[in-house]
Amino acid sequence: MKRLLYLLPAWALILSSCNPNPQSEPLSSPGGNNTIDFFLSPEGQPMYRITHGGKVVIDTSSMGFEFEDQAPLSTGLEWIATERTSMDETWEMPWGEQREVRNHYNEMTVTLQEAAAPNRSLDIRFRAYDDGIGFRYEFHAQPGQDSLRITDEHTAFQLTGDHTAFWIPGDWDIYEHKYNTTPVSGIDAISKRDNEDLAATYIPENAVNTPVTLRAANGVHLAFHEADLTDYAGMTLKVDTAALRFDSELVGSERTGYKVKRALPFHTPWRTVQIADRAGDLIESRLIENLNEPNKLGDVSWFQPMKYVGIWWEMHLGVSTWDMEATQDMNTFSTLGKDQTSSKHGATTANTKRYIDFAAANGFGGVLVEGWNTGWDHWIGFEDREGVFDFVTPYADYDLEEINRYAREKGVEMIMHHETSAAPRTYEQQMDTAYALMQHYGMHAVKTGYVGKIIPKGEYHHGQWMVNHYRKSLETAAKYQVAVNAHEPIKATGLRRTYPNAIAREGLRGQEFNAWATDGGNPPEHLPIVAFTRMLAGPIDFTPGVFEISLPTKPDNQINTTLAQQLALYVVIYGPVQMACDLPQNYEGQPAFQFIRDVGVDWEQSRVLNGEVGEYLTIAREERETGNWFVGGITDENARELEVDFSFLEDGVTYKARIYRDTEASHYQNNPTDIAIEETEIAKGDTRTFALAPGGGFAISLLRE
Ligand code: NOJ
Ligand code: CA
Repeated sequence: MKRLLYLLPAWALILSSCNPNPQSEPLSSPGGNNTIDFFLSPEGQPMYRITHGGKVVIDTSSMGFEFEDQAPLSTGLEWIATERTSMDETWEMPWGEQREVRNHYNEMTVTLQEAAAPNRSLDIRFRAYDDGIGFRYEFHAQPGQDSLRITDEHTAFQLTGDHTAFWIPGDWDIYEHKYNTTPVSGIDAISKRDNEDLAATYIPENAVNTPVTLRAANGVHLAFHEADLTDYAGMTLKVDTAALRFDSELVGSERTGYKVKRALPFHTPWRTVQIADRAGDLIESRLIENLNEPNKLGDVSWFQPMKYVGIWWEMHLGVSTWDMEATQDMNTFSTLGKDQTSSKHGATTANTKRYIDFAAANGFGGVLVEGWNTGWDHWIGFEDREGVFDFVTPYADYDLEEINRYAREKGVEMIMHHETSAAPRTYEQQMDTAYALMQHYGMHAVKTGYVGKIIPKGEYHHGQWMVNHYRKSLETAAKYQVAVNAHEPIKATGLRRTYPNAIAREGLRGQEFNAWATDGGNPPEHLPIVAFTRMLAGPIDFTPGVFEISLPTKPDNQINTTLAQQLALYVVIYGPVQMACDLPQNYEGQPAFQFIRDVGVDWEQSRVLNGEVGEYLTIAREERETGNWFVGGITDENARELEVDFSFLEDGVTYKARIYRDTEASHYQNNPTDIAIEETEIAKGDTRTFALAPGGGFAISLLRE
């Protein structure tokens, strides 16, 4: 007993003996497996600790804020009140990984106030779920003060060991980094600076971006992120490699000096910790969406999930160009001399019709066309990008009217493309006209892009100013029944619940890097990490489906997966828009293409059958309306066998199964396209084992007959 007491911090004993206010209030999740304890230190600083299954997973951690024009708010607080409530509701996703989502939590709100003048007060609201914890700060109106300018938020997450971390650097401009696997003590974000493949990057200190996922020695997984990032700066996590602690570090602005300015009262985004014994439970967790407000847009049936093709991969392969005079070279991010111009423009009327025909013939809902509008000749490599892109004026060889007429006739919808070149003010000026033009043509989805350093200088992609810009795009688009798929975006934080027109985004190192990255492309472990990190934030526009894996036009690059894995990605990676990104001619005569034609894109339910972060993963998803199931499994650079137990299938139904798998000879490096396709019948209760090649995978369609 004496020994035990020694283990308790001294102030905990003091607290329990002389403070009349509640010393520590626990809040447990409905199933009781997660508990957050809140307390004040003897100095009156808010502190918390999280336990999972009775074991501490986040040890005593402090909270506090610093401001531009007033004293920090961290100590000297008194506990004024505690309120508790709970929720158990089910809401429906208009499209998603599953139709119904249960939002089941216990909530506790503590009210704190400074004992001394100016007696500032705030609430901290905690929600305990069986799949994790969320909390946020709610600043009250303060007499004589209308707004706050936050220079730092200090939310600490004290880890209990040197866990294995799957991380990307805390870049203020871009999430398109390769993932790293190191102990927390070995996180070195600074070494990720100077990445020549990134058009904008800024890593000010040793911090990581979220979601960041940790695996503890005892097998518990923790994923740190935020939910409902609204009118606030994105949060990175600064790493104390000695103390094994994360501390919130907000993305800043060199234009203003502060990181967040808000009128009082307001609340911050939720700080979230997803907790799982099984890695796959992180993917099944809907904590992030649950912590967002319900749908504000009402009926959004004007958008339908779809597979799409487009004039895109050909530019990344260097086969065609975005600009009409072909002066831009994506591969070197540079501008060729005018004398090198040729007529390599991808977005011509004739080429677009070829893609429309291909989409119509194969049941794809959409056709994306990049490089259709003026401005591309003044894109990468130019500092003065303000006022350059025009989102309503097509190049002379692109007949917008005719293309939309032709697409309609063929039952295909055109997908708009707006590359803003990170000049958001130019985009905001044109947003209404640009989205109205889309509405005029019956286009309901836009892919936006923000390549380059933000103009004005001093702002970053993930700061408050840009967070508000991305929101403005979503809200304005919604008025014109337009859904947004943003590239170089702000990270997803579950806002798709509130704004379902936030259909997908990039926000990771996508397929495009395989075409031109100077380091040879995404390693085979990339997607087995992405699924347990980036994908926890929300839908991904990864653009899978490359069949010509060796990339003949790019001698230094290739796709580091087998063909079977390219198919599996349609199931493993969730997005309500999924591209079949390869050139139409590369799909001709390919039996494996049948899987892409068949695979669903909107799901009744999803099950993660197995998986370990960075190693392998199998997901099964049931398509809405048809009841067909699709299964996808992927592995890293290691060959392995994965067993699938088909007990998720409906009882009494025999499914016509088509299995697409690696062969014994398949290998991502030297034999990536070797694939075996097999037809059979599968029913509930069947079990099969699949052999995956290095960088390989398998995909199964299970169709009701
Ligand atoms: C970067 C995007 O990620 C890519 O998909 C797009 O083709 C280019 N920007 C051009 O907008
Ligand atoms: Ca990108």
